[in-house]
Amino acid sequence: MEEQTGEILIPCHIAIVMDGNGRWAKQKGFDRIFGHTNGIKTVREITEASVEIGLDFLTLYTFSTENWNRPQTEIEGIMQLLVQSIEKETETFMKNNVRLLVIGNIERMPKDVAAKLNGCIEQTSKNTGLSLVLALSYSSRWEITKAIKDLVNEKIPAEDITEQLVSKHLTTNKIPDPDMIIRTGGEVRISNFLLWQAAYSELFFTDTFWPDFTKEEFCAIICEFQNRERRFGKTSEQVKCE
Ligand code: IPE
Ligand code: IPE
Ligand code: MG
Repeated sequence: MEEQTGEILIPCHIAIVMDGNGRWAKQKGFDRIFGHTNGIKTVREITEASVEIGLDFLTLYTFSTENWNRPQTEIEGIMQLLVQSIEKETETFMKNNVRLLVIGNIERMPKDVAAKLNGCIEQTSKNTGLSLVLALSYSSRWEITKAIKDLVNEKIPAEDITEQLVSKHLTTNKIPDPDMIIRTGGEVRISNFLLWQAAYSELFFTDTFWPDFTKEEFCAIICEFQNRERRFGKTSEQVKCE
């Protein structure tokens, strides 16, 4: 839940669907992978901005369950970029007090990629600043199905199942629900991302392709969030009295 400082709402958790890398590259006459390579610069810029504004959680939708259906060459290219980026950025994470977390079906990731990720997660685990959450091999339906299986395997009686217990069985169990979800790249859809957690998230869509997304646009969207009234089902009058 966001913090209320006077009238200004400071989000605690922002989640982003980083979309538009392929179209960005194609527009420039390059391969899709060139778009992914350039998308990494934006990841760095937005992570830095999140550290500067004192955000607690930044979740980046990096690779979905459905993205496994892409051409093998593109999948391999993305996995390679992931390994290189982790190697390159770990030092910066340590310097900026950033803790890396991963949500998703890591068992499906190639062994070397999973090992790199786990190494970085371990190394940054004591950092207390921004938690950077990468959603990898992630989809909400996978996550919710897994939660149901786990609840059944634990033989939890139906009458004991609460919303809190379901939340605890999701891969986001130690992460608060996102206050904001931003999608770049012009599509107005959720694409199987944080369906349960997005119950009361404020949604923002921009036509900007991810490699062109900037700190300035990110901050402008946060300002827009600050001007919205979050009612959580109540009336405006009730919210104003709180
Ligand atoms: C998002 O960009 C990154 C991933 C899904 C890995 P896309 O690769 O989906 O780019 P577009 O949407 O085709 O332009
Ligand atoms: C969503 O983008 C997944 C990520 C950004 C990782 P996609 O490009 O895969 O989504 P669709 O296929 O357009 O819905
Ligand atoms: Mg896309």
